[in-house]
Parts: sequence; structure tokens; C-alpha cells
Amino acid sequence: MRVLSVQNLGKTFGTGHTAVRAVDGVSLDVDPGDIVLVIGPSGSGKTTLLSMIGTLMRPSEGQIFIGGRDVSHLGGRQLADLRLHEFGFVFQTFNLLSALTAEENVMLPLVTAGIPRRQAKAEARRALEKLGLGHRLRSLPRDLSGGEKQRVAVARALANGPALVLADEPTANLDGRTGREVTLLLCEIACRENRAVIIVSHDLRLRDAAKRVITIEDGRLTAVEPGDHDLNCPMHSAAPEARAV
Ligand SMILES: Nc1ncnc2c1ncn2[C@@H]1O[C@H](COP(=O)(O)OP(=O)(O)OP(=O)(O)O)[C@@H](O)[C@H]1O
Ligand SMILES: [Mg+2]
Repeated sequence: MRVLSVQNLGKTFGTGHTAVRAVDGVSLDVDPGDIVLVIGPSGSGKTTLLSMIGTLMRPSEGQIFIGGRDVSHLGGRQLADLRLHEFGFVFQTFNLLSALTAEENVMLPLVTAGIPRRQAKAEARRALEKLGLGHRLRSLPRDLSGGEKQRVAVARALANGPALVLADEPTANLDGRTGREVTLLLCEIACRENRAVIIVSHDLRLRDAAKRVITIEDGRLTAVEPGDHDLNCPMHSAAPEARAV
């Protein structure tokens, strides 16, 4: 089942001579296991595109299908439900709740989605362990490094088993190496679990983590190129005999 299909998507902010055409006729299909890096100059419409895909913003025109379902006519409550179950979000600023531990931050969307606390706790723990944070379950965000905070945010985004993870500038507040490490980890887990990821970033080195790189300029999709994911992901670079097992 196709995770996402975007058809002729457009967004105009404002009207008349002050109108801004932020996204202009973008079409894009994303399948399970796809890892798409979205690059382009500042102001080219990347965040607007990602916000519409994440149903955080309504398009001016065009259609979005999530898991084959047209979401354009869904109401606020149905959209909130869709976001909780189908998407994982990773933001530039981590967006962790400062009074909650790493484990509680990851549990929160699970509990909100109706999962019993005991099960949510076990799943949160599992997600944090996958990100190498099994020893930081009880830590508060203020006691974590930037890279650790973003790994908690990635664990939170993955914990509910979303079909699609959306990340807007996930590395912007991290040093280059840490940002790249966290993103490679996200892409490796997504690849292994057959989840799709869309990452918006200015960091062209993230091409290493992506299966496809798309360029947005003036709201339009102007290029689609292959990324270097397969060269770097352990899922692909393992020796053939190891892979066959
Ligand atoms: N809420 C809004 N109201 C009016 N104009 C907006 C709004 N949000 C974005 N824009 C405009 O739409 C265009 C695209 O903005 P967007 O934030 O999507 O760009 P971006 O590619 O994410 O840029 P950056 O790389 O700097 O984050 C810009 O010209 C921006 O000023
Ligand atoms: Mg942006």
C-alpha cells in the first residue's frame, strides 16, 4: 500500500498583490521504506509542503492521499486521529516536555492514542533502547545533550509504529556530526521497519541517509535524484552472505 500520494498540491498565502505562492503544483508518491530528503533554498516552500503532508495546514488546491485515503475532507478530530496513528513528527527544536523524563515523553503520544500505561511504558522503553538511550529513561531533557534530546524525539516519533515520519530540519540545532548520526539512525530504523521518512534539511550531507533527494525551488519540485542510502545503511551494506541469513 502506498504510504503517501500528493497530487498537484498548491498553497497560496494571502490574496491580491501581497499573495505568496508558497507551494506550486507539487506531486509526489512515497512508498513504505522510502527515505526522501527535501532540499531547496530558504523560503522555497519546504516547511509549507511538509506541513500540508502532515495535515497541519490545509492546501489551497490539490489532493493528499494517506494510505490510499483522501484526507482533504476530513474534519479536525479525524485529522488529529490520523496524525496520532499514521505520522511521527520530528522538529528542529525537539519539542520535548521539560517536566517529563525521556521515557514519559515517548509514552505521551502512546497514552494519548489510548494504549494502556503499562504497555505504553514497555513500548517507550523499547523505542528508546533502539536509539541507544536505554540508560537515559529517567533523565529529564535538561540533563540530556542536544543529540540525546533529538534521539528521544526520534524515539517518540517512531514509538507508535507510524507509516510515515516527517522531520523538518531535525539537525539544525545539532553540530554537523551529531545531526548526521541521529538522522542516519532514524533512516536505518525506518529502513529496517519499512517505514517511510521525509526529511527537510539544508544539510546536503544527509544525501547519505536518503534514498531519494528532491529539490524545491519557488514552490516547485525541480529535481529528483537518487540518494546514497544503500551505500551507508547496514541493512544494505552487510556482506551478501550475512544478508541472506
Ligand atoms: N503563514 C504564512 N503566511 C504568509 N506567508 C507564509 C506563511 N508561511 C510561509 N510563508 C511564505 O511562504 C514561503 C515558503 O515558506 P516556507 O516556510 O515553506 O519555506 P522553507 O523552504 O521552509 O524555508 P526555510 O528553509 O527558511 O525554512 C516563504 O516566502 C514564506 O515567507
Ligand atoms: Mg522551513
